[in-house]
Amino acid sequence: MRRPLMAGNWKMHLTLDAAQALARGVVEGLERALPGDDGVEVALCPPFTALERVGRVLEGTPVALGAQDLFWEDQGAYTGEVSGLQLVDLGCRYVIVGHSERRHVFGESNQAVQRKLGAALRHGLAPILCVGERIEERRAGRADSWVQDQLRTAVAELKPGEARRLTIAYEPVWAIGTGEHASGEEANRMAGVIRSLLEELFDAQVAAAVRILYGGSVKPANVGEFLAQPQVDGALVGGASLEAEGFVAMAVEA
Ligand code: G3P
Repeated sequence: MRRPLMAGNWKMHLTLDAAQALARGVVEGLERALPGDDGVEVALCPPFTALERVGRVLEGTPVALGAQDLFWEDQGAYTGEVSGLQLVDLGCRYVIVGHSERRHVFGESNQAVQRKLGAALRHGLAPILCVGERIEERRAGRADSWVQDQLRTAVAELKPGEARRLTIAYEPVWAIGTGEHASGEEANRMAGVIRSLLEELFDAQVAAAVRILYGGSVKPANVGEFLAQPQVDGALVGGASLEAEGFVAMAVEA
């Protein structure tokens, strides 16, 4: 049985004080709503600048700290980059890899995502690998093959033991930040496509173990539609994770 995960991707939002306050609000809200609960797992992914401050708030709580990206080298002359080693230093347990904004705003290739995934696993981080089609692919009937290509390239160098440590987030690009979300049934179908490919590339154990999240305009009002799906194991939430009460309510529902 896969443990559900509710993860908040705070993107490039929040000053240090606001990030600290939000993290405190989530921790206190979960303590009230789910005292001692080991059901749903919760992770918060603040901007790099707030990792240390938020990490201190989360220390000793069941809420995990995650980063939104990493570079594949461990150290060196890579201006502006942050390595997996440095994320571990800051207490990160998760790291988002291949978010569509990295891919389509900053031009990150499937090959770059593959190298980042390897670096995350090398440093013992739990990757949340994002895949998802744009509206062009969906309208052209190429959504499945697009997602399969992203996944196939990303995991090409992984051994089954490494693949088992993955969490995958299916985030249709056309649903991110738009208020237009995929239906629960479509999210479930695509998660099934992803899980079938994992079985083909690795084995049934890997396919059964990997958590598959849905992301893209998830809100308290619609999260239940995704959590009810047998192939969906939680959500990667953007905008709606910036408000503690609503985010805690979604975790409680998981
Ligand atoms: O990584 C999650 C994010 O891309 C989804 O954003 O605002 O549509 O929940 P949002």
